[in-house]
Amino acid sequence: MTILVTGATGTVGRHLIYHLLHQGQKVRALTRNPATASLPEDVEVIGGDLTDAGTLRPAFGGISAAHLITFGGDYQPLGNGQQIVDLLREGGVRKVTLLGGWQEGSLEPAVRASPLEWTYLNPVQFMANFLTDWGEPLRTTGVVREPYGDRKSPPIHESDIAAVAATVLTQDGHADQAYHLTGPEVLTARQMIRHLAEATGRDLRFEELTPDQTRQEWGALGKRPNLSLFRAFTQIPGVRDADVVEIFLQMVGTPNKYGTTLTDNVEKITGRPPRTFAQWAAEHAHHFQPQDAA
Ligand SMILES: NC(=O)c1ccc[n+]([C@@H]2O[C@H](COP(=O)([O-])OP(=O)(O)OC[C@H]3O[C@@H](n4cnc5c(N)ncnc54)[C@H](OP(=O)(O)O)[C@@H]3O)[C@@H](O)[C@H]2O)c1
Repeated sequence: MTILVTGATGTVGRHLIYHLLHQGQKVRALTRNPATASLPEDVEVIGGDLTDAGTLRPAFGGISAAHLITFGGDYQPLGNGQQIVDLLREGGVRKVTLLGGWQEGSLEPAVRASPLEWTYLNPVQFMANFLTDWGEPLRTTGVVREPYGDRKSPPIHESDIAAVAATVLTQDGHADQAYHLTGPEVLTARQMIRHLAEATGRDLRFEELTPDQTRQEWGALGKRPNLSLFRAFTQIPGVRDADVVEIFLQMVGTPNKYGTTLTDNVEKITGRPPRTFAQWAAEHAHHFQPQDAA
């Protein structure tokens, strides 16, 4: 039977397709833009928009399992969860994985209340975030200027999230479970920059801004760095652009259990330890070299 991957052209979805094809599974991909999806030849690519249930029937028929993103673009949680669940059931789907988002929308409760076998994947910060967060400053100046260089997180390689999803979608024993997924180690921002320096052979540095310097330098909209967290914050209902720097300072400046908690779920589920940040840095070193600046 065929497995449907939504978010197929995204950070986790492309890795999930790779893992499923590697296992010999038949894969169907949902995208809003089939013409530009650029997916492997063996994948059946079907157009559809998760925010518009009327477009989804062709993709949702004749599948046994589905990997579901829970947002409809720009981190906006989906508002039509019950319609999506009804279509999945009509299509004969038995099992779904849900990729946890920044905020819960309507899809997660609709899936939990349904007879579908669901597994909720709740990953921490993706290592891929550093491509957008730090790529430009490291390529152009070799310096990341941010507050709280000793802030901690256990970032996870996006391929490990996908490997967990591929296992859950194709093996039994994971029904009605929520898995908190982390990488193998807790690292500070400074330590991650050191790994990137080693991987690139460049003199890369973290330069710490005080909270007041941060407010001064990032206060103006056009001067803010391109941080994933900022993009997520701007989607919180009621948050004004002016609040975003304060929320960032509050969040990264306050130690929290998510920053220091490690789980062994990746290894327990896939049988392989999660990849380290040093491995990710070596795989992506070319993105942090000056010649990529153009
Ligand atoms: N980044 C993190 O650190 C992090 C941590 C924990 C959880 N998460 C969650 O993980 C998810 C993925 O985040 P990301 O930033 O890496 O995004 P991403 O994978 O780059 O997201 C883009 C993907 O979503 C698809 N998509 C977006 N809107 C769609 C719609 N209306 N209909 C169909 N497909 C749609 C896109 O497909 P097309 O453009 O091809 O249509 C594309 O494949 C988010 O829910 C996020 O909250 C992220």
